[in-house]
Amino acid sequence: MAEMLHPKLTEISFLLNNGVRMPAIGLGTANPPEKLAETKQAVKAAVKAGYRHIDTAWAYGSEPFIGEAIKELIEEGVIKREDLFITSKVWPVLWDDVDRSLNESLKSLGVEYVDLLLQHWPICYNKRNDPHGINGLARNPVREDGSPDYNESADWIETYRQLEKIYSDPKDRRVRAIGVSNFPVEYLERVLKECNVKPAMNQVEMHPRLPQFELNKFCREKNIKLTAYSPVGSHGAPLVDYPPIKEMAEKYNISPNDILTSYHVRQGSFVVPRSVNSVRIASNIEFAPLSKEDIDKLSDLGRTDPKRYINEEWNKVVPGFTGTGPPV
Ligand SMILES: NC(=O)c1ccc[n+]([C@@H]2O[C@H](COP(=O)([O-])OP(=O)(O)OC[C@H]3O[C@@H](n4cnc5c(N)ncnc54)[C@H](OP(=O)(O)O)[C@@H]3O)[C@@H](O)[C@H]2O)c1
Repeated sequence: MAEMLHPKLTEISFLLNNGVRMPAIGLGTANPPEKLAETKQAVKAAVKAGYRHIDTAWAYGSEPFIGEAIKELIEEGVIKREDLFITSKVWPVLWDDVDRSLNESLKSLGVEYVDLLLQHWPICYNKRNDPHGINGLARNPVREDGSPDYNESADWIETYRQLEKIYSDPKDRRVRAIGVSNFPVEYLERVLKECNVKPAMNQVEMHPRLPQFELNKFCREKNIKLTAYSPVGSHGAPLVDYPPIKEMAEKYNISPNDILTSYHVRQGSFVVPRSVNSVRIASNIEFAPLSKEDIDKLSDLGRTDPKRYINEEWNKVVPGFTGTGPPV
């Protein structure tokens, strides 16, 4: 029997609700501090392997290294700026100053616009100076007693309002689409009710052990796309060695990484795996045409063995986010 030909993951793209086209797979760049400088060669390896989408954030500290990579890739004639799709995010310490966040991201990246700008979390921090922080600000400010320094009188929706103001100004060309990240359904409902621009994206942790059934249903109905972060379970890639994933990889004769990324793309979602390993980056771009039964079998792990890997302290202040305990 002739072997079926399938596109590479890097050749697949979907439309956002404002008509902007976005590549399905993007390189994640939330690298740990000791690996931050490796981001530059990771981005170059990814683009040379066919990736056209880079996921970053003001808070990652990786934007200057991505900027160096883009500059060299353009100088080498590998790509033009318009060939790339760059997502950045506004961190909660700049909840009331999206303009500053965006300008600092653009400066670090060495570009005039980002393709997608997301509100990173629906929370607000107070600003505290820290020379070792991001652009002079503490990333996770804490009070004298060590507790997180939330701004309790602030309203997280202010950040989204600022995003939509920038997006809606025809003279302002700094963003092509806007969206959110880590928003449970109730938070999206509030945005839809109180704001004018529908988010194009909600970026959340998502994988077979956290299939986000409710969010998927809601976002499909409202035409809001989802991007899956931590697709292999983040640090140490625990899902790569998880037996049901390995079995599926053997069945399709591809890597567990490819199963874990194809799982989202097959369902019409985006996915942003992170790696600084150029061999892994270039080899893990095979698309597995998973059947409906295979998708259901994988998603069932969200019922039988649920797990959220990114359990940040501040998850607890986002009602509906269930930072501790099994996910909903
Ligand atoms: N919006 C948000 O709040 C949010 C939160 C978390 C993440 N994100 C985004 O999503 C991206 C991806 O999520 P993530 O960084 O949490 O994790 P991830 O992509 O699930 O996992 C990345 C880690 O897995 C390792 N890895 C991958 N395949 C492997 C294999 N076959 N064997 C051994 N190790 C393997 C990588 O190491 P190597 O580098 O050695 O390959 C890396 O350390 C982030 O970088 C960021 O862009 C967004």
